[in-house]
Amino acid sequence: MRLSVLGSIFDRQSEQAWNPSVLSIRPLLGLLALVVSIACMLVSLAILLASDNQPVTEWTIQPTVYLAIASALANTALGFARYHAIPLAWWYSVSKGNSIRDLERQWEAGHSVVLALRHNVRMGFSGFATLLVAIMIIDGPLLQRATSVRFATETANITIALRLAPELPSGFGGNVINSGLWPSAAAIQVSNDWKMRAPIVLDMAPCNGICRAAVRAPGVTRSNCTSRIWPITDEMIYDPNATWGNWRTYDPSLQKLGNPLLFTSVEDRNHYLPPGGSELAQLTIGLFGFNSPDTGPANGTYVNTVCDYIPAVLEYALVIAGNQATIESSRTVEPTNNTLAYSNRLPREHIQPTTMGALTAYMGLFVTANASLYIHSNSLAGEEQWTIDPSGMSGNAATVGKYLDYTKTAYGILFVDPTSDIISSLNELLFRGGVAATGWANITDLTDEGLSVEQVLHGNQTTTQNVYRSDLRWFAGAAVLEILAVMFVLPLFFGWWTLGNAPLLSPMELGLAFDAPCLKEVNSATGSSGVVQKVGDVHLKYGAIHTMNGPGIEDGRESERMVCRLGIAESQNVQKPTRGQHFEV
Ligand SMILES: *[C@@H]1O[C@H](CO)[C@@H](O)[C@H](O)[C@H]1NC(C)=O
Ligand SMILES: *[C@@H]1O[C@H](CO)[C@@H](O)[C@H](O)[C@H]1NC(C)=O
Ligand SMILES: *[C@@H]1O[C@H](CO)[C@@H](O)[C@H](O)[C@H]1NC(C)=O
Ligand SMILES: *[C@@H]1O[C@H](CO)[C@@H](O)[C@H](O)[C@H]1NC(C)=O
Ligand SMILES: *[C@@H]1O[C@H](CO)[C@@H](O)[C@H](O)[C@H]1NC(C)=O
Ligand SMILES: *[C@@H]1O[C@H](CO)[C@@H](O)[C@H](O)[C@H]1NC(C)=O
Repeated sequence: MRLSVLGSIFDRQSEQAWNPSVLSIRPLLGLLALVVSIACMLVSLAILLASDNQPVTEWTIQPTVYLAIASALANTALGFARYHAIPLAWWYSVSKGNSIRDLERQWEAGHSVVLALRHNVRMGFSGFATLLVAIMIIDGPLLQRATSVRFATETANITIALRLAPELPSGFGGNVINSGLWPSAAAIQVSNDWKMRAPIVLDMAPCNGICRAAVRAPGVTRSNCTSRIWPITDEMIYDPNATWGNWRTYDPSLQKLGNPLLFTSVEDRNHYLPPGGSELAQLTIGLFGFNSPDTGPANGTYVNTVCDYIPAVLEYALVIAGNQATIESSRTVEPTNNTLAYSNRLPREHIQPTTMGALTAYMGLFVTANASLYIHSNSLAGEEQWTIDPSGMSGNAATVGKYLDYTKTAYGILFVDPTSDIISSLNELLFRGGVAATGWANITDLTDEGLSVEQVLHGNQTTTQNVYRSDLRWFAGAAVLEILAVMFVLPLFFGWWTLGNAPLLSPMELGLAFDAPCLKEVNSATGSSGVVQKVGDVHLKYGAIHTMNGPGIEDGRESERMVCRLGIAESQNVQKPTRGQHFEV
């Protein structure tokens, strides 16, 4: 018994005491919400920075989704903070003492955008906070604008590991038997792939995007060139007896002698220079040129050039897509020493291996051309009536057509020098041979010492892909708005530590504070929870209340009379007001 009395006294004392405290839960939650709101903005910034220039494929969930969540959280947190700040500010304002007009204005401005706007410049911090928190809704769209997708090309340095024979293995091409060439199956396959322009597939992990790298592979390099020039004058062109070049041709149908116009050939040869001699591809080019920009008008030359190309390790600049390569250019690294010159004087049954010979010979089929120029029977000097006979005896119309320089026909007859075209074709054929030989088990025995099919290339990789692009100007707009809103909500918390139990603007609290008759029994310091505890079961009703008016003066003596007012009171004392009813007070 004593204990329970003590307990209730203790309870009442703690409940009813005026205990302003910094550690009040609602203001602290509100302030925490402001911190959360700012943190969400920082998270948005982090998302924008992290996704900038990142490939779209690396984000399974788009940054816009994260941004939407972050901005929704920021707005919710800010709304929560404002919800707790407005009543605090009101109570603080009334605790400082303020006119009823100002208190009402503050309440209205704090609760509705429309009312805040109606009070315009006098809306105060509560009004601005309400407005800004409402405007914060555009933060979401602003953040969405801050990130977009664009197409980006990026180049990175990479290392590529691949397997490719830097040299054709000895005997790759087949055999020479009694000076006849018998190509190997590998050489036939490679030749056919070259003719069909089949893709060159490298033994490597596929490159993502476009890779460029230099690789070592078989090819040829020029070892020796000799050339002879015949000058040609205007008179010679119209003289059927004029000669140039190493031979004359005769056309029975024209009954005319002709001179060389274009001669091209690639032949499989050998040379026997010490120490061991090697196979070689001999390129012969005979080119007629007249009225060229170089020699001037009515002037020209016939140039016959013979060049030896020996097998070599080349460095090829490749463009690789996936694992398919195309050759861009090449340069010589070093000549190889694993091909042997064969001899036509060997006995018939003696079989001699050939390395690149079969490929060189195949190339020759496509390159060989021998076209002649015949002067037309009724040609006169000044009348340029020539006959080109590309069919010749062993001519090749396609080759003549390919190298005839039509862009310069206004000058005369000119050809493009076919040398680099022919040699790069031969190199491509040999490169394909290297690719085909890469898988050979005994390749190291058949190539020069110190060479390996394992190659590590340093190149670059160009990828074109969709990436996210962040535009922080939009973020700045959203952030400024957010900071403004926080700056207007924050001061509303001011003075919470001077208020008792940090009340909300609940009707019961207000009733208690305004000393409502129906709450007379409740201790004024217990707040809404005290009201519920003490008179929680009392039924209240809003309507017409009959109440005794205080002592009035009537006919010179004190009197009390019944008056009717509109209000909230215990249900039994309240009647439903009738339409048109007048209230005295
Ligand atoms: C790539 O390598 C080249 C030279 O090898 C160098 O100049 C360039 O700066 C490198 N680029 C990058 C992005 O590392
Ligand atoms: C270059 O070619 C000429 C004519 O074919 C020949 O006489 C000479 O020996 C060759 N020189 C070399 C180094 O191959
Ligand atoms: C060409 O040579 C033949 C025989 O030598 C001669 O008869 C003819 O007149 C010459 N033609 C010209 C245009 O010089
Ligand atoms: C023809 O060209 C050669 C070499 O370009 C030059 O030396 C010669 O003078 C030219 N002849 C005429 C007639 O223009
Ligand atoms: C071939 O021999 C020459 C001379 O000895 C040497 O410089 C070159 O490196 C050799 N080639 C290869 C591919 O080993
Ligand atoms: C080119 O063809 C002619 C016959 O039209 C022939 O006389 C000549 O020898 C050929 N040239 C070569 C290098 O084979």
